Amino acid sequence: MSHIYLDHSATTPVDARVLEAMLPYFTNVYGNASSSHRFGRSAENAIEDARELIAQIFNCRPNEIIFTSGGSESDNLAVRGAAWAARQQGKGTHLITTPIEHGAISKTINQLVNEQGFQQTVLKVNHEGLVDPKDFAAACTPHTSVASVIYANNEIGTIQPIRELAQIARGQGVIFHTDAVQAAGQLSLDVEELGVDLLSISGHKFYGPKGVGALYIRDGVSVLPVQTGGSHERGLRAGTHNTPLIVGLATALKLAYDDLAQRTTHYRKLRDRLISGILNTLPNALLTGHAENRLPSHVSFVFEDIRSGSLVELLDAKGIAASAASACKTGSSEPSSVLLQLGYSRETAAASLRLSVGLHTTEADIDYTIQALGEIIPQLSTRDLTAATA
Ligand SMILES: Cc1ncc(COP(=O)(O)O)c(C=O)c1O
Repeated sequence: MSHIYLDHSATTPVDARVLEAMLPYFTNVYGNASSSHRFGRSAENAIEDARELIAQIFNCRPNEIIFTSGGSESDNLAVRGAAWAARQQGKGTHLITTPIEHGAISKTINQLVNEQGFQQTVLKVNHEGLVDPKDFAAACTPHTSVASVIYANNEIGTIQPIRELAQIARGQGVIFHTDAVQAAGQLSLDVEELGVDLLSISGHKFYGPKGVGALYIRDGVSVLPVQTGGSHERGLRAGTHNTPLIVGLATALKLAYDDLAQRTTHYRKLRDRLISGILNTLPNALLTGHAENRLPSHVSFVFEDIRSGSLVELLDAKGIAASAASACKTGSSEPSSVLLQLGYSRETAAASLRLSVGLHTTEADIDYTIQALGEIIPQLSTRDLTAATA
């Protein structure tokens, strides 16, 4: 049976070169980076080299990078930490966000609002999932302290106009965070060019290990720690450094950005083949998100007039690993709130499919997947698709 992995937005395998770079830090170089002897210093040097590598890709200073346990923690620290610090400095408690954020942002903001006296404006998005910068400008008030807008969405792939939004935020004195977890490894992370104050990434989305991430914090932007304890990471993130994972994160990011043009050209070619193949084969398929302004690796569809039935399970039976909207929604029978926000009906939103290509995906994988969908979808459809598929 085929084994075709089209769920790279959920996670990616660790690159063999990344694993190799990490291995010595599990065994020989095991010191605690906070210790002042040579064992500690060796670990500390590896961590500072990793910070330097990431800073080069972000076009920032190494001290502006904080290591975390992944995208969720980076998002939590960014939004909760910046909101708390702003309130402490008497800067206002109004937050701005979008209705298509990952739960690591939306649930953090909801908790700040429901339990800690903050207020929020949730911006509208259009049918393609785009925020209108005019709406963002209108939502900024003298009480607004922090805004968080996802760079590229995990469910629909849409890329937001981050540069424009960050520029508006700066003009209004609002701290601007972007969740770049899906964007990392595919789009520019140059924080000067983007103009953002805070930016989150996670290692496992670009062939690095799971359980490690980073948060960029622009010099001068105040953030209070969320996880307290030791004085690691400038007192912003307590906990003994996980040296091997930090080395793996930096190595994977460097490999991705050294090879960015080739990687994204490969992704785009396969993405576009998949999109046109599905649209040509299945008349009830609707591409979700923005047609062009989307992640190079990302394809997402909903299917109209589908009986309930698990598309993902049927694809799995044919050897294809896919996802319904996002991996984080697995196990939930509710249609994706992102798709509902975009204006799809509950029925249509319930029949969603996300396919995300990777470095090892081939054209043959794509063609097999289109053929498999051409068999599965008509079986699940309540309308006759034969005329169009003939
Ligand atoms: C947009 C986005 N933000 C945050 C996260 C959370 O990252 P992590 O799994 O590293 O906690 C994900 C993971 O899927 C994501 O897609």
